[in-house]
Amino acid sequence: MDTLLRVQRFEPTVDRAPKTQEYSVPFRDGMTVLDAILYVKDYVDHSLAVRFSCRQASCGSCGMKINGVPRLACYTQVADVGGREVTVSPMDNFPIVRDLVTDLTGFFEKHKEVIPHVVRRDSAEMESPTSDYLMKPEDLERILQFTYCIKCGLCTSSCPTVATDSLYPGPQALAQAYRYTMDVRDEGGAERFKVLDSAHGVFRCHYAGSCSAVCPKGVDPALGIQLLKRHVMSAKPPRGPGEGARTSKP
Ligand code: SF4
Ligand code: FES
Repeated sequence: MDTLLRVQRFEPTVDRAPKTQEYSVPFRDGMTVLDAILYVKDYVDHSLAVRFSCRQASCGSCGMKINGVPRLACYTQVADVGGREVTVSPMDNFPIVRDLVTDLTGFFEKHKEVIPHVVRRDSAEMESPTSDYLMKPEDLERILQFTYCIKCGLCTSSCPTVATDSLYPGPQALAQAYRYTMDVRDEGGAERFKVLDSAHGVFRCHYAGSCSAVCPKGVDPALGIQLLKRHVMSAKPPRGPGEGARTSKP
């Protein structure tokens, strides 16, 4: 049995509009959508552009729409999306570089805007630590799911607010803002709130929830955004300078 693979092709510098090309791919058990695309690239049409790396749902490179739904191509089996016919196209809400490859530059810039790392004020201690920075299991549990983000962009591609507000950070960045603001070792909440509490910040989220529905790693960005709203409403980051800056005694 062959699978009919429909691929949206588009080279912005050459084509006036995207077009669909169809390829016949020999089906085999366990074949992923990425396998099918790479069969075409290897044996039928070398010019087909696709981005991938790990092939195990870890690197976040292979995000695309599969039968209209944002998914990782390496993590989606052809048999699970119909088997006989599969349609692939680039993620929405991102500029197309070519074919299935989208430009994630703006996505990563927004990620950087929310200061995606633990911020500390005790720089002398940072330079020469005198003890370990500890976290209770319950403190870790609060943020654990958000640490699983692989920055694939699927949530951002599905977000209706991102589609209409180019300055909105998007669910990926906001979920990471929550992850670091709620980290008991962090003191950067007030700085992050300048981005979160703005005309294009957390209150632009209308809680469509599509971000959480499509995440392949079980992250719930919509939840993080709603919880951030509460902290922004109280005009107070959950952690202030010194609060939560726990170190073990030597
Ligand atoms: S939250 Fe999920 S969907 Fe969004 S970038 Fe991270 S892993 Fe991808
Ligand atoms: S190739 Fe790395 S996530 Fe799919």
